[in-house]
Amino acid sequence: MSTACVVLAAGLGKRMRSDIPKVLHPVCGITMIECVLGAAKRFRPEKIVVVAGKHLDVIRKSLGNNEVAFALQREPKGTGHALLCARSELGDFRGTVLVLNGDTPLICHETIRQLLRLHRKERNGLSVLSFEAANPKDYGRVVRDETGRVTSIVEDSDADEQQKKMREVNSGVYAIDSRNLFLLDRIRRNRAKGEYYLTDIVAEAYRSGVKAAAYCIGAEEDFLGVNTREELSRASMLMRKRLVKKWAGKGVSFLDADSVFIHAGVTIGRDVIIYPNVYLEGNTKIGRGTTVFPHVRIVGSEIGNGVVIKDSTLVEESKIRHGASVGPFAHVRPGCEVGPGAKIGNFVELKKAVIGRESKASHLSYLGDATIGRGVNIGAGTITCNYDGDKKHSTVLGDGVFVGSDTQLVAPVKVGRGAYIGAGSTITKDVPAGALAISRTAQKNVEGWVKKRKARVKG
Ligand code: UD1
Ligand code: CA
Repeated sequence: MSTACVVLAAGLGKRMRSDIPKVLHPVCGITMIECVLGAAKRFRPEKIVVVAGKHLDVIRKSLGNNEVAFALQREPKGTGHALLCARSELGDFRGTVLVLNGDTPLICHETIRQLLRLHRKERNGLSVLSFEAANPKDYGRVVRDETGRVTSIVEDSDADEQQKKMREVNSGVYAIDSRNLFLLDRIRRNRAKGEYYLTDIVAEAYRSGVKAAAYCIGAEEDFLGVNTREELSRASMLMRKRLVKKWAGKGVSFLDADSVFIHAGVTIGRDVIIYPNVYLEGNTKIGRGTTVFPHVRIVGSEIGNGVVIKDSTLVEESKIRHGASVGPFAHVRPGCEVGPGAKIGNFVELKKAVIGRESKASHLSYLGDATIGRGVNIGAGTITCNYDGDKKHSTVLGDGVFVGSDTQLVAPVKVGRGAYIGAGSTITKDVPAGALAISRTAQKNVEGWVKKRKARVKG
C-alpha cells in the first residue's frame, strides 16, 4: 500500500513571538521541519507535501534540495484547511495519507510505523496516534464513546470540565485513506477560533460511518508539540538527552552529560572522553580515542583519532588530524587543517592555515592564509601580516623551518626549507632554503651608561 506524507507547517506560530517561522527553529541543530521530514522519509512515501503559508519561500530555501513538494495555504485558516490546501499537490494519489505536524520535532518513526500497521490491519478509514500527556492543556483531547470508539477530538478551548480532565491527547499524526479526504469538505469553522480544525475530521468520520480509531501508543517525549519557547527548550533538552544516550551507548564517556550539547548531525568514535560544557555542532566528526576538555565548541569540523582538544577552545569548519593537540584557549577559524601530531597551543589563532605534520605553534600566534610545512617550529608571538588593508596574501613556510619568537611574516612571503628566522624579525622578503634571516637592528651596549645618567640627574 502506498503512502503520501503531508507536513503541516503554515501556522503563524504566534506563541513563539519570533520573526522566524516556527518550524525553522532548531532543536539540537536541526530545524523542527527537518526533524519531521527525516521521520517522514523513513516510510519512503510516494510523495511528501509541505503545507506552508506566508513563509513558504523562506522554508523552501532553508530546506534546499529536500525533494518535497510545497502547497501554499494563503491564510492560516486552521489545520483542516491546511490539509485541504495539500489536496491538489496530492493529485490522484491513492493510498494512505500520513499527516504530520511540522512542530513535533521529537517525532518517533517507529511509533508511526506501528500506527500505519494498525491502520492497515484494521482496515480503518482514519487512524489517529494519541498519547497520555502529563499536562494535556495544549493538546486536543481524544473523546471516546462507552464502547471505547473514538468519537471526536476536542481542543482545550472547547472542552468541558470533564473533558479537560482527560489525559489522552492527539499527537497530530493521522493516517487517512485517500478516499476519505472528502470528509475535509464537511469540516465547519470552529466557533471559538474561526478556524477549520483537522481534528474535526474524527467527528465527521464517526457521523459518516467511516471507520476511525485512535491508538494510544505514543509517549509524550516523542510527540511533544512545540508552540512556545518553553516547549522548544524542553524539546531541545529531550533531544539532547537522546543524543547523549545514543553516543554513550556507542562507547563515548561523558563526565557531565547534562552540560554537553551535541547536534543531531554529529558522529563520535569509541573511547572519546568529553568533559563538561562541550558543544559539538553541525556535522562534526570526532575520531576514536580523542579527548575534548571543558568549555570547547567544535563546529562543522573533522577531528581525527587520538586528538586532544584542550580547555576553552573554538574550532570552526576545519580538520584536525590524528594525534594533534589544540588549545588551551585556541581559535581555529574556518578552512584550517592541522596535521598529524601537530601542536597548536595557548592563545593561537589560525585562519585558512595548513599546518604540516608535527609542526608547533605553542604560544600567542596568529597564522592566517598560511601553508606551513612539516616539523616547523613557530616561536611565541609570531604573526602573519596577511592583510594589506585591501587584499589578503599568503605565507608559505617550507618543511623544518624555525621561526624565532616575535616574528612578523609580511605576506606575500615564502621561507624555504630548513631556513631559520631570528627572533624579533620583520620578514618582508622571501628567505632561501637553509638561510638565516634576521631583520632587527643590531644590539648596541653602552658601557657605564647608568652611572653617567644618575650623575646627570643629580646635576
Ligand atoms: C494541534 C491539534 C491538537 C493536537 C496538537 C498536537 C488542531 C486543531 N489541533 O494543536 O489536537 O493535540 O496539534 O501537537 O489541529 N498549521 C497550518 N495551518 C494552519 C494552522 C496550523 O499549517 O492554519 C500547522 C502549524 O504550522 C503546525 C500544525 O499545523 O505545524 C499544528 O498547528 P498548531 O497551531 O500548532 O496546533 P496546536 O494548537 O498545537
Ligand atoms: Ca502545535
